[in-house]
Amino acid sequence: MGREYFIAGNWKMFKTSTESREFVQALAGQFTAAPGLTVAVFPPFTALEAVRGLDPKVHIGAQNLFYEENGAFTGEISPPMLRGLAEYVLVGHSERRQIFHESDEDVNRKLLAALRFGLKPVLCVGETLPEREAGRTLDKVHGQLEKGLAGVGDADWAHLTVAYEPIWAIGTGRNATPEQADEVHRHIRGLLESKVPGRRIPVLYGGSVKPENSLELLAQKSISGVLVGGASLNVESFSAIIQNGSKLLSA
Ligand code: PGA
Repeated sequence: MGREYFIAGNWKMFKTSTESREFVQALAGQFTAAPGLTVAVFPPFTALEAVRGLDPKVHIGAQNLFYEENGAFTGEISPPMLRGLAEYVLVGHSERRQIFHESDEDVNRKLLAALRFGLKPVLCVGETLPEREAGRTLDKVHGQLEKGLAGVGDADWAHLTVAYEPIWAIGTGRNATPEQADEVHRHIRGLLESKVPGRRIPVLYGGSVKPENSLELLAQKSISGVLVGGASLNVESFSAIIQNGSKLLSA
């Protein structure tokens, strides 16, 4: 099987509807579709409608969801509300876990709810700096995956993506080295392989991905794409990362 790359931009709490729309239009002009290349942006909920259907090359994801279908959950957004607006949805981003106290159980419920309503979840996992320094990285990531993926049905694996995002690398300018990322990615791949042998589930790297380090990270065999925060907020830097993916696909 040839290589495939998934280049995703997590905009976090940035960009209004108008800014999001302008961004997607500008981005679409900066790259050409290529076999094996998937580009997606994850705008805030309020901008999803504005970017809907703008360009088939730019896939759309949401940054979060709640696991109930409807009810008295003030401020939350349900999976059926996202259907038709988003194809993908992030679950378990470290900012959700740390700032909003989402547990592995919450993340698992969200992931299963997303799948139930036809959304493609991107499950984010990663260790803190103290965990890395204590040699607990693989244990931490393993536990998050086991708990996060509990109960995924046979037919659902095809819709799943995993993102490894070391927390110490997010927004810090200090990315994991390709070797550090590769070690964890191999572990994740081993675990996924034991669950669904022979199926290649995309495993993205995230954490201070920039145009300057993206080529080297994407060149790792175990890395199937990148989840980009800060550098995805700017058309030039995000499209430079996409170009690096395209370059490697055509190499
Ligand atoms: P960063 O964020 O690229 O700004 O480090 C990555 C993320 O949080 O997904």
